[in-house]
Amino acid sequence: MSFIPYGKQTITQDDIDVVCDVLKSDYLTIGPKVKEFEEAVAEYCQAEYCVAVSNGTAALHLSSLALLQKGDKVLTTPNSFLATSNSLLYVDAKPVFIDIAEDGNIDFDLCEQKLKDDTSIKAIYAVAFSGNMLNQKKLKYLKENYNIIILEDNAHAIGAVCDGIKAGSCKNSDCSIFSFHPVKHMTTGEGGAITTNFKEIYEKLLILRNHGMVKTLEMKPWEYEMQELGFNYRITDIQCALGLSQLKKLKYFIEKRIEIAKTYDEIFCKSIIKPLYMYNGNSSYHLYVVRVDFTKVNITKEKLFVEMRDRNIGLQLHYIPINKQPYYKKLGYGDEKTPVMDRYYDECFSLPIYPTLKDDEQAYIIKNLMEVLDG
Ligand SMILES: Cc1ncc(COP(=O)(O)O)c(C=O)c1O
Repeated sequence: MSFIPYGKQTITQDDIDVVCDVLKSDYLTIGPKVKEFEEAVAEYCQAEYCVAVSNGTAALHLSSLALLQKGDKVLTTPNSFLATSNSLLYVDAKPVFIDIAEDGNIDFDLCEQKLKDDTSIKAIYAVAFSGNMLNQKKLKYLKENYNIIILEDNAHAIGAVCDGIKAGSCKNSDCSIFSFHPVKHMTTGEGGAITTNFKEIYEKLLILRNHGMVKTLEMKPWEYEMQELGFNYRITDIQCALGLSQLKKLKYFIEKRIEIAKTYDEIFCKSIIKPLYMYNGNSSYHLYVVRVDFTKVNITKEKLFVEMRDRNIGLQLHYIPINKQPYYKKLGYGDEKTPVMDRYYDECFSLPIYPTLKDDEQAYIIKNLMEVLDG
């Protein structure tokens, strides 16, 4: 069996063809494909506006610049990739880490408690972890009752739907971000996007993506004005052509992921391997996370990773609690009370899931995992 990674892109000839077409065209950087991709993503998500950028981290950074002020306290999750809370540090905002619930997403009840205790909190940055969409009723309730800014980090969750509301539609949030890194549902190589329903935010994001520069019809032909300290977070026409092609196949990609997840669920439900959640209609299954109580098996998690690697199977761990990272510890974080996250971190690991994972490969993963855990 050749190496099976935990995640992988699905690129076919039609993707390659559209990229080649752009390479032969007049525009390589921002041209017609960027706008077309932004409109397609906005329409897919049922949001008013979309700004495509160079990666998901840039999407978070620009959103934070548009939404927050220096010193703002923001509730966020320890169970994410570093970029979620790093984007708060980039703008001198202050992450406040809140424990997770059993499904791996931030615990909204604890968020509410914190909002009651500390009225100076300005925002929540929540992650739809593994593709499991954020509880929209809770978001609506928190937004209406506490008048806070909400960002949905949907880097894992494009295509997810909860109560008829699509990830990225921003029905109950100010902004939502996506990542189009190759391990995600659909890819542009590197790439990301922000969706919003607020024109003011949209216009600010466009300016910030391009060095803070503004150019209007009233200006002299050579003129431009820098009105903000922006960045070069532009995405290219090459990437957006790929994104448009991938977006057309997203439904199929998600169906395949769900199929794989259901097969894992069926086998594991009678074993010591506990799926993070059994089939969940709110998830678009970026990740398939399981939990094992390692005090009840004859192998450590470290050994399990090594043994599975020796059998050509790539496990991953999502995530090391961000607040426990050395950099965050230097800033004074790390001692928050997060018992659910701590136990989750001891038990969790992610299994391969991607549309081209074959049945025999999945059977091989399951057989070897059972074998190795049996000792
Ligand atoms: C939850 C989450 N947010 C943000 C990002 C950042 O996205 P990118 O890698 O495209 O910068 C990632 C990337 O893995 C992620 O998983």
